[in-house]
Amino acid sequence: MGYKELKFDENSVFLVTGGAGFIGSNLCEAILDMGYTVRCLDNLSTGKYENIEPLISNPKFTFIKGDIRELDTCLEVTKGVDYVLNQAAWGSVPRSIEMPLLYEEINIRGTLNMMEASRQNGVKKFVYASSSSVYGDHPVLPKKEGAEGKVLSPYALTKKVDEEYGRLYKVLYGLDTYGMRYFNVFGRRQDPNGMYAAVIPKFIKQLLNGEVPTINGDGRQSRDFTYIDNVIEANLKACLASSEAAGEAFNIGAGGREYLIDVYHNLCDALGKQVEPHFGPARAGDIRDSNADISKARELLGYNPEYDFAKGIKLAIDWYVENL
Ligand SMILES: NC(=O)c1ccc[n+]([C@@H]2O[C@H](COP(=O)([O-])OP(=O)(O)OC[C@H]3O[C@@H](n4cnc5c(N)ncnc54)[C@H](O)[C@@H]3O)[C@@H](O)[C@H]2O)c1
Repeated sequence: MGYKELKFDENSVFLVTGGAGFIGSNLCEAILDMGYTVRCLDNLSTGKYENIEPLISNPKFTFIKGDIRELDTCLEVTKGVDYVLNQAAWGSVPRSIEMPLLYEEINIRGTLNMMEASRQNGVKKFVYASSSSVYGDHPVLPKKEGAEGKVLSPYALTKKVDEEYGRLYKVLYGLDTYGMRYFNVFGRRQDPNGMYAAVIPKFIKQLLNGEVPTINGDGRQSRDFTYIDNVIEANLKACLASSEAAGEAFNIGAGGREYLIDVYHNLCDALGKQVEPHFGPARAGDIRDSNADISKARELLGYNPEYDFAKGIKLAIDWYVENL
């Protein structure tokens, strides 16, 4: 079953933190399309108002400009909320290596504030963004929950700590938390700009502009690139999951494995551009290979991703060609 057929109580209220970002704005839009009420909390630090501008006129949508580092704000926005989808965080492994303190403040303290506020206000389900980076240097593929290695960056550590708080808030306080270990999400509205942009939108934009993209490393690193609609499905199914499955983290990937160099050539072919890339040094803190065993999410959340890489990348390219 796709997420559009999922049913919640008609008066359900969702709070999406980081709702003006890539994943958050897609969550807000999808939930509004299903007819439910959505609150969006975002400080517009890496997200953009234009991502939610088309939603503002919807009477079921409220945007609150605020920061998850402020407990009072978190307490205020979680009042009367049934489901929290906590996406607010700073992403990017290399940037976290440059500013570890800021990552600790936003990604750990901010998420803890949201969990605490959700507990105090009796939120039914707290679903939060984690990351495949928690697997660190564990060499085995595919990645399976329970087999994590040592983390390789401050960013990965923040997500690992969030997961530990998620577990504790279930065990100690009975808050139903579900960690979504996203694997390289891509799709409409992902920001192609800036030095910390994700590779897929960045390469598409560079190719469309006639620039020569740089691949960090030899291009033989692999990822389980996951289309945004799979992530929406996972979040909404987690909201409907049993309490017994709470306190845990789940791999949210597509279950495939693409080499970066192949993705690059795929984009060149789709855009009709034959450009040889530059190769730069490999990035510190990056894992070499990553693909998800999604059996735990399948079993406990009913996650059944509808979009494999080929289907998703076609939709993403079409969107960028039309919107860039
Ligand atoms: N995109 C991916 O491939 C990926 C992979 C793994 C995990 N994640 C996680 O998913 C979540 C969403 O990522 P995204 O790709 O949409 O990134 P994004 O940068 O587009 O969205 C994050 C949003 O959070 C907001 N934000 C940041 N700090 C905030 C704060 N202190 N208070 C309130 N709002 C704040 C930003 O303004 C932005 O709108 C993040 O937690 C990220 O770590 C993403």
